[in-house]
Amino acid sequence: MLRPTRLPVAVRNPVSLIGIVVATTMAMLFVVLFVLEIRGYVTSPYIGLLVFVAIPAVFVVGLLLIPVGAWRAGRRRRLAPENEPDWPVLDFRNPHQRAAFAAVLLLTIVNLLIVSMAAYGGVRYMESSEFCGEVCHTTMEPQYAAHEGWPHARVPCAGCHVGPGAGALLESKLAGTRQLFQVATGRVAMPIPSPVDSLRPARETCEQCHWPEKFHGDKIRMFREYGGDDANTESVTTMQLHVGGGSRALGGGSGIHWHMNLDNQIEYVATEATRETIPYVRLTGRDGRVREYVVEGTTEAQVAGGTRRQMDCMDCHNRPAHTFYATPERAVDAAIAQGRIPRELALARREAVAAVGSEYGDRTAAFEGIARRLRDFYSGQAGTDARLVARAVAAAQDVWSRNVFPAMNVGWGTYPNHLGHIDAPGCFRCHDDEHKAADGSLIRQDCELCHKIQ
Ligand code: HEC
Ligand code: HEC
Ligand code: HEC
Ligand code: HEC
Ligand code: HEC
Repeated sequence: MLRPTRLPVAVRNPVSLIGIVVATTMAMLFVVLFVLEIRGYVTSPYIGLLVFVAIPAVFVVGLLLIPVGAWRAGRRRRLAPENEPDWPVLDFRNPHQRAAFAAVLLLTIVNLLIVSMAAYGGVRYMESSEFCGEVCHTTMEPQYAAHEGWPHARVPCAGCHVGPGAGALLESKLAGTRQLFQVATGRVAMPIPSPVDSLRPARETCEQCHWPEKFHGDKIRMFREYGGDDANTESVTTMQLHVGGGSRALGGGSGIHWHMNLDNQIEYVATEATRETIPYVRLTGRDGRVREYVVEGTTEAQVAGGTRRQMDCMDCHNRPAHTFYATPERAVDAAIAQGRIPRELALARREAVAAVGSEYGDRTAAFEGIARRLRDFYSGQAGTDARLVARAVAAAQDVWSRNVFPAMNVGWGTYPNHLGHIDAPGCFRCHDDEHKAADGSLIRQDCELCHKIQ
């Protein structure tokens, strides 16, 4: 029990007492929840918000109330005419004062520990993918849901979106506060536009983990497609991609990663935020020679009015983490190739594409619609194995939920992928045989420049 009479005179006033009660309660709550969180008993991202942001904030307010109350009470006493203003006398021979001093010292250390633990936990927590994806639920849902299934699933959002260093963290928190405000006032853009002009350059993000000069050589990729027939007939395109790499110092410097050869610098001008239209490209070669490639009919004003950018990893790998399939066909083909939609199920490709490609208002409607459509269709096909249908339904629902987000206006093809040229302009934004330099040379499009189809 808190007995006010045993407390020092200075804090025997209502404001300080409220402060003591608030700070003590919050400190106990913090310790209990912190232990539960560390032990993994509570995992909701909102608990993190409570433990590392809300409780410490109230705790600090409580702590501040104690001296504020003491100061106000002291001022009232000093203003009373019978009291001369004076400093209190500290006397360590007095056992009461010694005990009070030890208590204040101990409490200060405990408070500093709690505040620094909360600050450390808070920063770490705000760097986590859970914070980005789940606290900002609807807004970040597309990227959070898509992030899970790709090679960077273990790279937290902040690994690419914040970059190293305290400056980057502060900058991103300021931007985050602005964005939180936009979300709260319903003014967030839907879909969220590419943040590429505010992302830190690849040097400070991708290159923390990837070495740009690495020589990758050729990479074999198999593109699997399925037919709309009974047997879901498979066709495979095997492709040898000349990724290459290297640099002058290491020898080589060829292939697709020639762009990243630090001896070359490519600058370009894009006329919209998705960077799909590129009328102007400027190449500075290793000998310092500059070549400007321009699409016929481009005006000076268009070049001056566009966004200029130096090409880096993110101009080709713009969706390294949260990749969305461009079309229902692509997504369903991938699910069949991975064995999630059973190929043994007759007409699975055709039916799944139709089911996931339909328009639905929200997730519940989509899950019901996909299940109903597939079940209705196969109930009319005598001899169908119901377990195969159930697997197809679950996989089709999963495909839909990782690619379509009606609440954010994100659907098939909303976010183009620049790696390739079939579903979006990609490499052909520049390699279209139309970007011409003064000497007549073109940015080449010959089919064997980048890959060999076997
Ligand atoms: C491997 C690096 C990387 C990781 C990890 C990453 N992102 Fe991104 N993100 C990017 C790049 C690059 C872009 C720019 C895309 C473009 O210009 O088309 C981007 C764009 C975005 C956008 C703008 C909309 C869009 O999709 O273009 C949002 C929102 C976003 N990221 C959220 C997230 C969230 C949330 C996470 C974690 C769950 C995350 N990102 C993890 C690299 C990454
Ligand atoms: C924190 C480290 C880290 C960062 C930052 C990072 N990556 Fe990666 N990246 C990896 C790892 C690890 C792999 C290998 C994953 C695997 O194969 O399981 C990988 C794989 C890749 C691959 C091959 C993907 C595939 O299909 O196999 C590409 C391309 C790539 N990263 C590009 C990027 C780009 C572009 C960026 C910056 C926007 C980036 N990475 C940032 C760690 C990182
Ligand atoms: C001109 C476009 C372009 C640029 C710029 C580019 N890449 Fe690539 N990269 C590619 C292509 C195309 C592939 C092969 C695509 C595939 O796997 O389907 C590839 C493959 C990769 C791979 C996988 C290699 C393998 O053997 O699996 C990694 C890792 C990678 N790139 C990292 C990077 C990093 C890091 C940067 C920036 C320093 C970068 N790339 C810049 C086009 C580019
Ligand atoms: C911003 C414009 C731009 C984009 C986008 C672009 N390139 Fe290039 N690329 C160039 C320029 C400029 C050259 C030099 C002219 C040439 O060789 O045709 C070049 C050259 C190349 C070369 C020849 C390298 C050598 O050894 O001489 C390859 C291979 C290549 N690009 C692959 C790709 C691939 C693959 C993509 C898409 C993932 C891509 N490029 C996207 C501008 C671009
Ligand atoms: C500037 C480089 C470049 C040039 C030139 C180029 N391609 Fe490609 N192409 C690519 C890349 C990169 C990919 C793989 C993208 C990926 O990893 O998904 C690709 C993929 C493909 C695919 C596989 C499609 C799929 O996704 O199923 C086909 C087919 C193809 N290219 C045909 C061609 C033909 C035909 C030409 C000549 C007109 C051509 N390409 C010229 C870079 C190029």
